[in-house]
Amino acid sequence: MADKNEWGSNLSFILAMIGSAVGLGNIWRYPYVLYSNGGGAFYIPYIVAILLMGIPFLILEYGVGYDFKSSFPKAIRSIHSNWEFLGWLLPVAVFIIMIYYSAILGWDGIYMILSFSKGWGANPDTFFANTLLHSTDSVSGLLTFIPIIAVAMLVGWVIIWFVSHRDLEEGLGKVSKVLVPALFVIMVIIVGVSLTLPGASIGLSELFNPNWSLLGHFEIWMAAFGQIVFSLSLGMSIAFTYASYTKDDADLITNTISIALANSLFENFAALGVFSILGYMSMQSGTAVADLVTQGTGLVFVVYPTVFNVLGQWAYILGPLFFLTVYLAGLTSILSTVEPLSFSIQNKFGYSRSKAMTILIIVGAALSMIYATAYGGNVLGFVDTFINQIALLFGIILECIIFAWIFKAEKLIGFLNSRSKTIKLGKWWLVIVKFILPVFIAIIWIGGLNDVIQTATFDQLVFTALTAAILLIATVIFTVLPSKNPDWDKTEERV
Ligand code: PFF
Repeated sequence: MADKNEWGSNLSFILAMIGSAVGLGNIWRYPYVLYSNGGGAFYIPYIVAILLMGIPFLILEYGVGYDFKSSFPKAIRSIHSNWEFLGWLLPVAVFIIMIYYSAILGWDGIYMILSFSKGWGANPDTFFANTLLHSTDSVSGLLTFIPIIAVAMLVGWVIIWFVSHRDLEEGLGKVSKVLVPALFVIMVIIVGVSLTLPGASIGLSELFNPNWSLLGHFEIWMAAFGQIVFSLSLGMSIAFTYASYTKDDADLITNTISIALANSLFENFAALGVFSILGYMSMQSGTAVADLVTQGTGLVFVVYPTVFNVLGQWAYILGPLFFLTVYLAGLTSILSTVEPLSFSIQNKFGYSRSKAMTILIIVGAALSMIYATAYGGNVLGFVDTFINQIALLFGIILECIIFAWIFKAEKLIGFLNSRSKTIKLGKWWLVIVKFILPVFIAIIWIGGLNDVIQTATFDQLVFTALTAAILLIATVIFTVLPSKNPDWDKTEERV
């Protein structure tokens, strides 16, 4: 089994990690977050978040994964035999991300095809909400099934299966080596063209115009940390799993720095492209840039089609390229979201990689059908908020406590430093992962939880509770099912 879950080279490992990091979060989330949190001034909390959290935390997660070379729940079980439950929690949570990510990927696939003929018509807003999603705020919309969305999602699931059920290097390794460099090349082309559009500078000066006074506000710091958590896929046992697939010679510290740099480079590039195009749009339509900027799905599926409508011939190149970039970025990220749970199932129940992946993908595809209903967009919003504001941050706190404190992060310093060709870890790293990070994230976590409770509608609370219940029930089931792998029980407590 082990050889089927091994990277062919360090390059495959780094590119797959970059593929996981660079995703929808970099394209639709980051430009908006940068703009609405102080523009140029946002770079201060953003860089602090990378240095204080992104890099030190990734080194920790990698270091432990590399040290254990096993699945996440097995490692947690070896650290403390009664805690296996906590080890299943994150792989299941990231599988929940996979299911809703597949819906956004499906929508994007539809737009990729529409972009060849601007098939969204003159009113992209009503097209997205009404014509395509049949969106309704009534829960009874769960009974209205939208076949086109289901088909688009199923196409995505088939592609995911095609890549993931193979041996690691044959599937994910090879795909990352082609798609991740391709993504950067396409992005450079999009940004290159966007920067030459008339009005681009209007958008860019709006984007970078620093609002220094915001630096004193807690929210902008929260936004920066939240962005880095999502964008670098932190706290979800992905880095752990990827590192456990590594052979013996990896320089994990240098890898981490490369991944964080590539991720930031990509999202800042995306911001340049997005705002140049918004500047152009603002000039054409006379609408202020501030009125054009929206977040997430609104930006990708409403503002962009609106821009392409006024872009003339360029739209037929930029449109398909843009939706293709979103698709590929989403694909390389979604491929990472099945790895932790799949590897854990292989590890505990002795399934082959191919069997575990096939079962998970069938289950994921079936569950994703909730997003192919008229109420699906709302459910997606609720689940996304739960994951971002509650689950991901909880994952980071959990890992800091278990890995930095109980496992004892100091054990990792020797072997990490001995391979590092760049920076060396010292006491400063322990102070960060043991104290600063868990305390800081706990404060943000409470803020986020409070925010959900204060602002949620009744339906949102119900769906949040349901998601949490599904997460907990699945976790309990995986924990109590007896293992079929004799090695599973061989682990002794290490503390
Ligand atoms: N990092 C991905 C993005 O920026 O879109 C999203 C993501 C993937 C977040 C996997 C979390 C995760 F576990």
